[in-house]
Amino acid sequence: MAMKRVFSGIQPTSDSFHLGNYLGALKQWVELQEGHDGFYCIVDLHALSGEIEPTLLRKRTLSSAAQLIALGISPEKSTLFVQSQVPHHNQLGWIMECLAGFGEASRMTQFKDKSAKGGADSARVGLFTYPMLQAADILLYQANLVPVGEDQRQHIELTRDLAGRFNTRFGQTFTIPENYILKSAAKIQDLQDPASKMSKSSSSLVGVLEIMDTPESIAKKIKSAATDTGREVTFDEKEKPGISNLLTIHSALSGQSITALESEFEGKGYGDFKAAVADVVAEHLRPIRAKALELLEDDKHLVDLLHVGAVKARTIAIETLEKAYKNLGTVA
Ligand code: TRP
Repeated sequence: MAMKRVFSGIQPTSDSFHLGNYLGALKQWVELQEGHDGFYCIVDLHALSGEIEPTLLRKRTLSSAAQLIALGISPEKSTLFVQSQVPHHNQLGWIMECLAGFGEASRMTQFKDKSAKGGADSARVGLFTYPMLQAADILLYQANLVPVGEDQRQHIELTRDLAGRFNTRFGQTFTIPENYILKSAAKIQDLQDPASKMSKSSSSLVGVLEIMDTPESIAKKIKSAATDTGREVTFDEKEKPGISNLLTIHSALSGQSITALESEFEGKGYGDFKAAVADVVAEHLRPIRAKALELLEDDKHLVDLLHVGAVKARTIAIETLEKAYKNLGTVA
């Protein structure tokens, strides 16, 4: 039986991915490479729907690629590529826009949230059509699984609806991806504000552990993490959200259970515990950061690797797009 195909994408919108990205999705991308045909895309065109900064876009696209490889995405085993290097995404995106209802697109909560934040006047059309481009990303590769977090559920549902609509009206063309939302194995919160998710859009990076942080910076951030009342290291998200978050982080990276950690730190204070968490995080990230920095020293090699991925992606993308055009009645 053919291997199931996995497709996922991430925007190059920050200099470094953070621990929430890693434990929430990227770690699963790496695991899914085994036994699946993985397509992993740095969605630079989606990033244009936010602030456009040409020098930053280039730098962040390369840095994203380096980090993905350093985290374990293998450019040989999987297809790792940059969205803008495969123009078929835009071409199928247009077809998806012509299938999607205006009302349907207006109900996307990510669009509503993001456009509300900046004020309706500053929201651009690309932010509105973003989900149809995302559907095209997925459908071009006939993906079976799309490992993303809960916040992307509505976009995946839309993708399934659009694929089904196309297939019903114009003939079987697209694989409808399975429902496969990642149950975040670990819910990683901001260190300073443990009530909010660790996020690249948070106003300050003090509470965000980045993959590219130095061990010193990791130690500093964890030392200054919000401390709860009391002094026991116990897991209690209501009463001790800060310590619980650190326990989750330690456990996710060390593989030790929360209960084992609670007994290990029984009778010790928050200070000792924080120092241990800092060590675990720094040790885990050290080789990843080193590998990413090494890859970034040779841009040309990195760009070449991405070109190889784009060539592999294009072969499949062209096939799907041609089938869609043919079924729509365009003259070849
Ligand atoms: N919208 C996704 C996010 O913000 C990124 C994305 C774009 C994506 N295209 C995709 C994810 C296709 C999965 C599949 O996380």
